[in-house]
Amino acid sequence: MPHSAKLSTRHLLGIKGLSPEDIHLILHWTAQFKEVINRPIKKVPSLRDITIANLFFENSTRTRLSFELAEKRLSADVINFAASNSSVKKGETLVDTVNNILAMKVDMIVMRHAEPGAAEFLSKHVDAHIVNAGDGTHEHPTQALLDAFSMSEKLGDLSGKRVVIVGDITHSRVALSNIYCLQKLGAEVAVCGPATLIPRHIYSLGVQVIPRLEDALEWADVANMLRVQHERMDRAYFPSIREYHMRYGVTMDKLRALSSIPVILHPGPINRGVEITSEVADSEHAIILDQVQNGVAVRMAVLYLLASQGKNIA
Ligand code: CP
Repeated sequence: MPHSAKLSTRHLLGIKGLSPEDIHLILHWTAQFKEVINRPIKKVPSLRDITIANLFFENSTRTRLSFELAEKRLSADVINFAASNSSVKKGETLVDTVNNILAMKVDMIVMRHAEPGAAEFLSKHVDAHIVNAGDGTHEHPTQALLDAFSMSEKLGDLSGKRVVIVGDITHSRVALSNIYCLQKLGAEVAVCGPATLIPRHIYSLGVQVIPRLEDALEWADVANMLRVQHERMDRAYFPSIREYHMRYGVTMDKLRALSSIPVILHPGPINRGVEITSEVADSEHAIILDQVQNGVAVRMAVLYLLASQGKNIA
């Protein structure tokens, strides 16, 4: 990959807007930055003099801390904003909030928001690079990139590999971003879960539906287990958690019955005993903490590539 290659976009709003070359470029730089963060001195000066604001209008542990660490590893100046203790509570609009932050000479905005399309809306109204850190049920692009990178560490080139996404597809931004990302990398994607949690338009995305978890796990090289997103549900989508776990929860017994065991991913936070047992989550088959570690390197790559479009950086 040539050092001078650039992304085709000045924002990261979703995987849908990226080309396969963009994704390969980000994954290339992720490998470089993973090497950096495993050195004794983990910091590089690449984003010195760049100021980044992290705007979180919705709860987060992994994504928020991972972006902040990535920014600090790149030597950026960082400010953090949480809606819960801000003037948003006094009625300030999103655009006014962000323009006030930009008046403090901020170059990039990383934003998580409950509204689908919030990051794209912002990109049309303010003059800064925007990175979508999850917008409602729409997209979570850096999660998909770190998932793809983690899968490829285990399996190599993802072209032709089979990935099943299990669980609450309807409410999952991780599912949609994973589908776009994996297909652009040449993988085959299936989903599995209660019919009530699989959107009707899923076939139009070129995704197959495998109703039984046992069949899906037998088919797959990778299973990405999603959290049931109770906070986005306005009604009951399945009879009980116990029944959900019996039908769609991955257990060691289900894995042992397979001819070969797929790599198990989970974006977190985990509902232990619901979509995945502790025994599986903590087993050699799961790469959940590798995903978290790779998240920092992926976010360093994204921030570096976006910032390098506008400025001459090291
Ligand atoms: N995977 C993920 O987005 O986790 P957080 O909600 O903790 O950021």
